[in-house]
Amino acid sequence: MSDYKYSIEAKNVNKIFYKKSSQTNALDNFNIRIKKGSIHGLLGPNGAGKSTFINILGGLVKKNSGTVSICGLNIDSFSKQSKFKIGIVPQELNIDPFFSPNELLELQAGLYGIPKKERKTETILKNVGLHEQKNAYARTLSGGMRRRLLVAKALVHSPEMLILDEPTAGVDVELRRSLWNYIKRINDEGTTICLTTHYLEEAEELCDNITIINNGKILTDDTKQNLLNTISNKTVSFSLITKIKIPEILNKYKPILQGKKLILNYDKDIVSLKKIIDILNSNNIEFKEINTFESDLEDVFIKLIKKK
Ligand SMILES: Nc1ncnc2c1ncn2[C@@H]1O[C@H](COP(=O)(O)OP(=O)(O)OP(=O)(O)O)[C@@H](O)[C@H]1O
Ligand SMILES: [Mg+2]
Repeated sequence: MSDYKYSIEAKNVNKIFYKKSSQTNALDNFNIRIKKGSIHGLLGPNGAGKSTFINILGGLVKKNSGTVSICGLNIDSFSKQSKFKIGIVPQELNIDPFFSPNELLELQAGLYGIPKKERKTETILKNVGLHEQKNAYARTLSGGMRRRLLVAKALVHSPEMLILDEPTAGVDVELRRSLWNYIKRINDEGTTICLTTHYLEEAEELCDNITIINNGKILTDDTKQNLLNTISNKTVSFSLITKIKIPEILNKYKPILQGKKLILNYDKDIVSLKKIIDILNSNNIEFKEINTFESDLEDVFIKLIKKK
């Protein structure tokens, strides 16, 4: 049963939410494959359908049509078994305020029928940095601590896959880094990860593969590297020694002159930086410093969302 290639495989999934006079196609012929062992990012603007898909995986939302399997198990035929394979960290911080982290994890372990001897409450709490607070009421925990508690709760039954719906929303920079490291670590130890995020640098830092969706439809689905390669624009800025007038030959590089700073844009697949430097040299433009900037995932994202 553990012989599967994709931790998640969804084909032609549709989900329609009916309201009084309208309907929302939250997922519209949605297809995705998440490779076992990978870190997969599900990105898209507000209302794109990310949480709807995650809620279908968790059994909280019923799809209208299509097939979904988790670790090779069809969720309709193996509803309970497939749920055991995943741990979900929900977008909402829904924690019972009157339980302590320790009680909450014990309760969750009980729900999964894990015998007391086999429970890993202590280890998990240490790993997510909540050991000191293990007996504090959850209502006294900060937002970041609650999020870590939800991660802990999702890991109680040692799932093969961890799904995180906006794991670092509202989390400070330092804690975000420590959550990233933890996510990477459990992935290295063999857990497949799927996460949604609005922080594109988070996706860039963590993900092997990325699916971008909008209005329930797939806009693109590729490796992170391929996505980054689709944008070959680079920017170079020169700190000039003296003020200049921009020579016409530079016009094709969309020049911007800010005092003694000259900014040029070029396509790295077509033009080399050396060629640009040669042009400056042959026009007697002297500079003391060069800085280049690569496009990032944010550029890819904005380009795709705008196109649609
Ligand atoms: N229970 C519901 N009843 C009615 N409409 C819903 C329900 N849940 C989601 N929707 C609608 O489905 C669409 C997709 O919502 P979803 O929560 O999946 O988006 P999302 O990608 O997770 O967005 P966000 O980034 O804001 O979390 C939205 O238009 C939303 O209003
Ligand atoms: Mg959401």
